Amino acid sequence: MSAYEKVSQHSRFHLLPQTNQLKGLMTIIRDKKTKRGDFVFYSDRVIRLLVEEGLNYLPVVEKTVTTPMDVPFKGVAFEGRICGVSIMRAGESMEQGLRDVCTSVRIGKVLIQRDERTAQPKLYYSKLPNDIADRWVLLLDPMLATGGSAIKCVEVLQEAGVKEDRILFINLICAPEGALAMLERFPKLQIISAELDESIDEQKFILPGLGDFGDRYFGTD
Ligand code: PRP
Ligand code: URA
Repeated sequence: MSAYEKVSQHSRFHLLPQTNQLKGLMTIIRDKKTKRGDFVFYSDRVIRLLVEEGLNYLPVVEKTVTTPMDVPFKGVAFEGRICGVSIMRAGESMEQGLRDVCTSVRIGKVLIQRDERTAQPKLYYSKLPNDIADRWVLLLDPMLATGGSAIKCVEVLQEAGVKEDRILFINLICAPEGALAMLERFPKLQIISAELDESIDEQKFILPGLGDFGDRYFGTD
């Protein structure tokens, strides 16, 4: 079975519903002719969908409220506390999408950069909420290619006491190689992604991909 087949059938890999709306948004951001303003706008829309989907994987407990009709309603409430952790720099583009749905959410940052020549990830800096070990973590990075950066970041989270089964990796585009490496290295972590691509090239860029996300989002290309 190919890595693509393994990932697409994996129980801990969750693709957003492949609606025409999502396909249209992804087509715009993948188009090399798309200008920066539109790239940011439409990426933000996909990020919002991803964050909303990620919240579906958090645990809930039963909660009964009384409606203005003085009738009880049996609903649910989120059980655990959450935080975001962005892999700088591209992951920072996803922070606002999380803040838009979780007011005053705590956000940790880990600066990991791929060496442009070797594509090996290097850890430069991390700053995490003090009580992160007690929280669910939405790990934010739009691109998963070899998986090296995200795997290094999960190791940083584990060193800080975060339990693997409380990590939801939220991602726009992933390559099968990277997604499989992550799922196999961390047997309880879940991945929520907008699209699963075909492969990576020799420079470890995702194909068909969208190029360098950080450069296109922050205007440094
Ligand atoms: C990109 C991307 C991921 C990483 C993915 O970051 O945002 O962090 O590459 O590649 P990998 O799965 O092979 O590790 P990059 O290091 O290019 O830095 P940037 O965020 O500044 O664009
Ligand atoms: N990082 C990106 O921004 N794009 C890729 O295709 C791979 C890593």
